[in-house]
Amino acid sequence: MSDTRGFSSSFGAIMAAVGSSVGLGNIWRFPYITGQYGGGAFIIVYLLFVFLIGMMIMLTEFVIGRRAQSGPVRAYPILRPDRRWWRWLGVFGICTAFLILSLYVVISGWTLNYAVEAVTGRLSGLAPEQVSYHFDQFSSSAVAPSAYLLIFLVLTAVVIIGGVKNGIEAVSKVLMPVLLGLLLVLCVRSLTLPGASQGLNYLFHPDFSKLTSEGVLAALGQALFSLSVGMGIMVVYGSYIPVSDSLLKTSVWITVCDTLIAVLAGVAIFPAVFSCGLEPAGGPGLVFKVLPNVFNSMGGIGVVFAAIFFVLLVLAALTSAISLLEALVATMVESGKMGRVKSSVMFTVLVFIVGAVCALSCGPLRHIQMGGMSIFDFVDRLNSIYLPPLCALGTVVFLGWFMPKADIMDELSNHGTLSVGWLKLFYFVVRFVAPAALLLVLVTGILQP
Ligand code: PFF
Repeated sequence: MSDTRGFSSSFGAIMAAVGSSVGLGNIWRFPYITGQYGGGAFIIVYLLFVFLIGMMIMLTEFVIGRRAQSGPVRAYPILRPDRRWWRWLGVFGICTAFLILSLYVVISGWTLNYAVEAVTGRLSGLAPEQVSYHFDQFSSSAVAPSAYLLIFLVLTAVVIIGGVKNGIEAVSKVLMPVLLGLLLVLCVRSLTLPGASQGLNYLFHPDFSKLTSEGVLAALGQALFSLSVGMGIMVVYGSYIPVSDSLLKTSVWITVCDTLIAVLAGVAIFPAVFSCGLEPAGGPGLVFKVLPNVFNSMGGIGVVFAAIFFVLLVLAALTSAISLLEALVATMVESGKMGRVKSSVMFTVLVFIVGAVCALSCGPLRHIQMGGMSIFDFVDRLNSIYLPPLCALGTVVFLGWFMPKADIMDELSNHGTLSVGWLKLFYFVVRFVAPAALLLVLVTGILQP
């Protein structure tokens, strides 16, 4: 198969996949979960999961996608025509991607609103109680969150309509380096504040007494979410990777960049939070309720840093949302039922409807409960604890137990041109270690109240 289906270069492929993995998970979620589960000890466990399990699942998805030259719904039956029912795993992954995108755009919409407010200086000068009230007021209002969600979603769809090379790849090649630059500026500012070392100590000093079993499970869930694995996105992106690229090298690059950016986000946030004497374990509100106070305490220049931070967050969210929407659109296009433009419009409308319901469930629809939770919390729980680990489990079982080993070896070695001395370790992890860890997450998640 020629390279014309997908990305035009190795750099473009890596930037697009880094764009998918670097998102709200790195800059919004990673710092607050690290804060919740005690800092350094959580990071050590997270690193173990990211490199031992997450990266191997990414490689698994890449092998499946590139071998089949197809997204997940068609890939499984192409690789095992005698077991066509595996296509349901692909369908399940795509449904998971749809649900994740529907919630992702809600938080991205909040982020977009904060970026606009930061740039126009409307966040500055608020007292800490006002900052907290401002967020609660905004996120529970009826119209604004859905309006921002829609703007964000339309931006995402415009890139998707642009295509794989001229849309996704072109945007990622520019936005990812810009994002890294902005993050480095914030790190320098944070590290030069008085008392910054306390934040670094919190982030890197491992105190295992604070790491609960729940924290260990959260680390694995976060590793999957952050690397965008467990919903077939990387099967789609795998099918776009040039056939001459090493899949191992590509996965290592993506994993290293994703982890580096998550840790840098921690370096940008915690020293600044400590320097202002604020609470590091701020939960999901860390970025929206705590950080504006940090920027306000910097005086006039704080407006600039607030603007940099929230714009950075929007860019990170955008490239991740692009990958989620691309998986949906690519699946529809491959099915031959609709073209790129039509399916982009259709999914934009569908995601908007579900996203708006999730957004409204933080306000006017708060009274509707599912399993004792608001719709937002229910979907969030499905997305973080159940669906991706279940889909990832199916994927590793497929590769480890159903895909011919000769095909795996051929794909990973680029038809025998690359050495694959590490294949035994990969195979062992995919057949035994990853399924055991994923099962553990699922069972514990089900048993948890
Ligand atoms: N990895 C993204 C993040 O860390 O924000 C979120 C994400 C994107 C999850 C794409 C799943 C996905 F398929």
